[in-house]
Amino acid sequence: MTAPTAESAAQSQADLLSVDADFLWHPWSPSRVSAETTVVVAGDGCEVQDVDGRRFLDAKSSGLNATLGYGCRPVIDAISAQLRQLMTYDMGEGSNVPAIRLAERIAGLTGPHLTRTFFCNSGSEALETGIRIARFYQAVLGFPERTVVVSLDNAYHGSTMAAAACSATSSPVADDVAPSGFVTVRRPGRAGAESIEGPEGIEDLREFLSANGTRTAAVLVEPVQGRGGYVMPDACLREIREMCDQQGILLILDEVMTGFGRTGRMFAYEHAGVQPDILATSKGLSAGYMSLAAVTTTTRVFDVFDRNKDKAGFVHGHTHSGHAAACAAGLAVIDFIETQGVLSNVRARGEQLLDALEPVRSMPGVRDLRGRGLLVAVELDRARRAARVKDHMRGSGILVRRTGRSIVLAPPLIITASQTDRIAQALVAAASAAASEAP
Ligand SMILES: Cc1ncc(COP(=O)(O)O)c(C=O)c1O
Repeated sequence: MTAPTAESAAQSQADLLSVDADFLWHPWSPSRVSAETTVVVAGDGCEVQDVDGRRFLDAKSSGLNATLGYGCRPVIDAISAQLRQLMTYDMGEGSNVPAIRLAERIAGLTGPHLTRTFFCNSGSEALETGIRIARFYQAVLGFPERTVVVSLDNAYHGSTMAAAACSATSSPVADDVAPSGFVTVRRPGRAGAESIEGPEGIEDLREFLSANGTRTAAVLVEPVQGRGGYVMPDACLREIREMCDQQGILLILDEVMTGFGRTGRMFAYEHAGVQPDILATSKGLSAGYMSLAAVTTTTRVFDVFDRNKDKAGFVHGHTHSGHAAACAAGLAVIDFIETQGVLSNVRARGEQLLDALEPVRSMPGVRDLRGRGLLVAVELDRARRAARVKDHMRGSGILVRRTGRSIVLAPPLIITASQTDRIAQALVAAASAAASEAP
């Protein structure tokens, strides 16, 4: 792990947090910093180090984006080489080599149907782009009334206008500031049937589409919901695909969190054997080394725009679309996943983690254990108990994510067997300690 710089070492975590509290507006809340906030200065493999020199095993991969861990040399070298040669070149007027190569490489993984990639900078932008593509697509085809985008409850699709309108929120004013045309229906498995076999649980979506299919542009689904780690049953995903096909509705899959290996396949849709019309990816594409997201569509969707250029085309883009150094990172990440056995590691470590966590299932205060690949959740009976589990984990030197009453584990995909054991043992101990505390 690289030693902290002289400037960072000279300041304590407490000093930095007091400056942070005065000047930084953190995502999600204006008042999020606490004495427990970790100011990270260095990382190596699956570990990070804070300003005061404490080391933590990062079982949440930063924001689930550090999929190849910290200090991954091939990715760093690819970015530096690209930066030295050409940091980027505008994709509106021109093109650049890493963007061309990365789009081709993604098509090699998602083809033969998903062939056309639009680059942007974040998961939210990818969903925003996907939603606009779906609405433009329907309008260009002569169905301007098809504007509704249906998402599932408990979803998270991002923070831009449309992406946020498709996401569950705890803000009481969220509906007041949301754009129109976004509908949320119940997600499968909510009644406790978290089976990943049966198609039960999509009645609400079916009902909505049978009444409103002709005004619906797209259905938007996360194959595994990051919030709480709910796995979309494979049979449900297949049913949703069929419903969309029957009614001319586009299926957008949000693989911002699951894409590029998180579930043990390159894309989570592979488990169900169905493909979307629009695929959004981001976190695992650049593994946290650069800001990059991709929206990959079918040839059919792209051709509708291409054939109808006279109808204004797709008026959408970003200055940093296809940033050359970010795309160079993406190429190096895919190389690493393919050559270093990352997907088989995810499958082995994911199974190991679920097996080793099995004892928590029967503990008082624990409601469920579920997951796919290296996206695993332990659901407690209350958010407060989950918060205590998270604190116990931090005390054991392991950082985890909490969403509501669930602890979500999503370590880097390169995690070792012994690190996996360490996470599981600490979580069993933390859940056991939290079980004996008052709810
Ligand atoms: C499934 C999913 N979609 C979209 C987003 C938004 O991505 P970003 O934070 O890069 O805007 C996230 C972020 O956590 C996510 O998990």
